[in-house]
Amino acid sequence: AKRLTTRDIRAKKRSGENLAMLTAYDYVTAALLDQAGIDILLVGDSLGNVVLGHETTLPVTLDDMIRHAAAVQRGTNHALVVCDLPFGTATDPDTALRNAVTLLQQTGVQAVKIEGGAAAAPTVSRLVGQGIAVMAHIGLTPQSVHQLGGYYRHGKQEKEARELIASAKALQAAGAFAIVLEFLVPELAAEITQLLDIPTIGIGSGADCAGQVLVINDLIGLSVTPPPGFAKPKADVAAIVRAAATAYIAEVKTPKDPSLGQ
Ligand code: KIV
Ligand code: NA
Repeated sequence: AKRLTTRDIRAKKRSGENLAMLTAYDYVTAALLDQAGIDILLVGDSLGNVVLGHETTLPVTLDDMIRHAAAVQRGTNHALVVCDLPFGTATDPDTALRNAVTLLQQTGVQAVKIEGGAAAAPTVSRLVGQGIAVMAHIGLTPQSVHQLGGYYRHGKQEKEARELIASAKALQAAGAFAIVLEFLVPELAAEITQLLDIPTIGIGSGADCAGQVLVINDLIGLSVTPPPGFAKPKADVAAIVRAAATAYIAEVKTPKDPSLGQ
């Protein structure tokens, strides 16, 4: 199966096929999701939270993203692979361009994602002008958690909703091939989806987006904390891992079991 391109993604959106996107951070998970037929894999800077155990995504470095994105890329041959530009690596268009080039050259992924509203449009435009595929990301942008003052639903106030619509339009005009809408009021996400030609990919933003994205750990229940309300886990991998470890520990601690190590 040949790898999906940004043109394929646009074509699926035009034909009304919903886009399925998940995060992945390692080779084997990426390979399994790729075999399942996922459209887009995101090497999210959520790896800071779910893989590295940080409180926020702010400590994640470009080198962290490069190492994990290269592993995800090696695990896939069907999905379009997108990698986040982490905190502090897209502070201005030229810095973002330099870091995106490094990321693409060292990993082989097909696209980068940048958080931010209309203020990020010149950066998107600079990268697209150099032939880089860029996914935008508005609403709850976790790299701005301290400036925002927490993790909350966006677009409740009329002024904020208007700004989000203006941002989405500006990012599309700047050349983004898709846009993540994170934790928006569902009606606003639906309105933005209608207004744009590029696909919207929602997370916690209701059903009326052109696609959906979830953190893989939230989908499969691989976590030590409860998942966000919108995640609807499809498995309880944490319970499977705990049960296997418990069985193994009991087996190892059983004295002189002749089957041990065979
Ligand atoms: O890092 C991430 O997992 C993300 C998705 C939630 C969109 O940016
Ligand atoms: Na992210």
